[in-house]
Amino acid sequence: MIHLDHSMIINEGATRRCYRHPDDPGKCLKIEKRPGAANANELQAYRAVQNLLSDYLAECEPELAVTSEGEALVCELVRDADGTISPSFSEFLLTEKTDENLRRQFLEFFDLIVRHKLCFYDFNPKNFVIQHAEDGFQLKYTDLKSFHKTKTAFALEKIPFFATLKLKRRSTRFIKRYLNQTPSSAQ
Ligand SMILES: Nc1ncnc2c1ncn2[C@@H]1O[C@H](COP(=O)(O)OP(=O)(O)OP(=O)(O)O)[C@@H](O)[C@H]1O
Ligand SMILES: [Mg+2]
Repeated sequence: MIHLDHSMIINEGATRRCYRHPDDPGKCLKIEKRPGAANANELQAYRAVQNLLSDYLAECEPELAVTSEGEALVCELVRDADGTISPSFSEFLLTEKTDENLRRQFLEFFDLIVRHKLCFYDFNPKNFVIQHAEDGFQLKYTDLKSFHKTKTAFALEKIPFFATLKLKRRSTRFIKRYLNQTPSSAQ
């Protein structure tokens, strides 16, 4: 059992709190605020896409861990070259500009997921983390729980054609909004 307390929280979203791992500075633990399927979905998605998207993912351990705050997904904690925890893309945009290298990575990421029909639907800028590595910025997509997720059993996205359409629409919207560009394959 891994013991956690609130002083170890490094960030949080609407669904999960993200704790630093007490025994490993290179890892974090994601715990659902209300027990649900987010971590199980993320792990399933990670297994499905890890080879195709390896450059753009934080590594995840294959099993959930037991902690004092509940079951946790154990992932690589993305840090900059100086050890600082890397910011989400929305935090990054407050102080930095997207350079050509980062723009190229975003376009490659969206091109890969559209080409391989990896149906992620949540491209909130808080779900991307921008690592300032020795050789420049590195993009990581750190919230995979939207993979093939539909709101209801009868949602249109149950049908592959509509699932791909929604993926294309969402990735196009992100590219236009944050990269100020018309995507090539994502249209
Ligand atoms: N592997 C990681 N390394 C560094 N920071 C991370 C990592 N994973 C998540 N974060 C930070 O923690 C925040 C919350 O994580 P995440 O998006 O997984 O939570 P969530 O509650 O599932 O999100 P949502 O609000 O979309 O439901 C992110 O915005 C990001 O800044
Ligand atoms: Mg999120």
